Amino acid sequence: MSKKLVIQVKRCFKEQFKTNPLVVFSPGRINLIGEHTDYNDGFAFPAAINKGIVLAISKSDSKESYVFAFNKNEIHKFETKHIKPLKNGGWRNYMLGVVAELRVLGKEVESFNAVFGGNIPQGAGMSSSAALENSFVFGINELFNLGLTKHEMILVSQKAEHNFAGVKCGIMDQYASMFGLKKSALLLDCRTIESQTYKIDFKDYKWMLINTNVKHDLSESEYNDRREVCERVSGLLHLNALRDASKEDIDRIKSNISDEDYQKALFVINENQRVIQFSEAIKNGDTKALGNLLCQSHEGLSTKYKVSCKELDFLVDRAKENPNVLGSRMMGGGFGGCTINLVKKDAFKTFKKEVSKNFKAAFEYDCDVYSVKLSRGTQIIKK
Ligand code: GLA
Repeated sequence: MSKKLVIQVKRCFKEQFKTNPLVVFSPGRINLIGEHTDYNDGFAFPAAINKGIVLAISKSDSKESYVFAFNKNEIHKFETKHIKPLKNGGWRNYMLGVVAELRVLGKEVESFNAVFGGNIPQGAGMSSSAALENSFVFGINELFNLGLTKHEMILVSQKAEHNFAGVKCGIMDQYASMFGLKKSALLLDCRTIESQTYKIDFKDYKWMLINTNVKHDLSESEYNDRREVCERVSGLLHLNALRDASKEDIDRIKSNISDEDYQKALFVINENQRVIQFSEAIKNGDTKALGNLLCQSHEGLSTKYKVSCKELDFLVDRAKENPNVLGSRMMGGGFGGCTINLVKKDAFKTFKKEVSKNFKAAFEYDCDVYSVKLSRGTQIIKK
């Protein structure tokens, strides 16, 4: 986490509200593999990272609550008892959604003042929204002694996203952001919402994220459409979720569904299997298999699930051509954002330079390259 950001947010809070706040850090996440599997009750393999949201918050005696977005220099004033989703509300909806969903649970949320700032690139598929939701639910829970468990808190965050941001997301992002552990990734069973911790150390290799800086306008409705397709197919099979389906199952109903829907369901079934194979490859130290699985995942996301875009495909193709990159795929919901790449440590700089140059030549603007540390989940920052 960035100490500078913590200092800036705290200072800004004290200037505005003249008191000492409770400070919470809530991270973004990466996902090693297992994309679009979470809302199918399947498996994913996320990890929290060292970039996130810093929230400074305290109780207020006023009738109104004030929340200041440090990076945007915007303030929002509201009453916790009268909350509705805002049209084009942006960050406000994630925060308001959390307060509203806490009230749905019968939790009394009194007025508060808050300042938050972040360093997760937006629209990069690194879950800045889950980090924001989790920072608020965690901060408010602590401030007002609401007594929620972490599991309860992430469900509040997820509902905020469903009902206030309009994205029918799964639980992966909120889980990873809340439960992340240092130097580890979490093999997450999205049905039980429990995970197994895997220490991640690939010796000569490390993760590189490459941001296309593309954000598709329709990504939210496209996302909800994918979820609907999956629910329709599992419904036809009289199953709770595609997690329970096999290829043989969907083959049986192939003539009743469109080829597009068949391919999407097949992707989910395959991707779920890849997560398990990936976890086995980690145990066996089989880095080659890890790389192949990443590439297969991208192939499926791009050609079957159709959530990639030309910029992401371009980056994955460049990675595949390079012998120092074991594997590469788009990460997160898709339609833009980042690729995640497993790159040889001593070739990191040269690949970064080369891929950046090629991207610029192809699209006439810059991509961004990041390396991240796998880190602890949402936490209070002591003074
Ligand atoms: C977004 C959603 C997650 C998950 C991913 C795709 O990040 O918020 O719940 O579905 O897309 O794996």
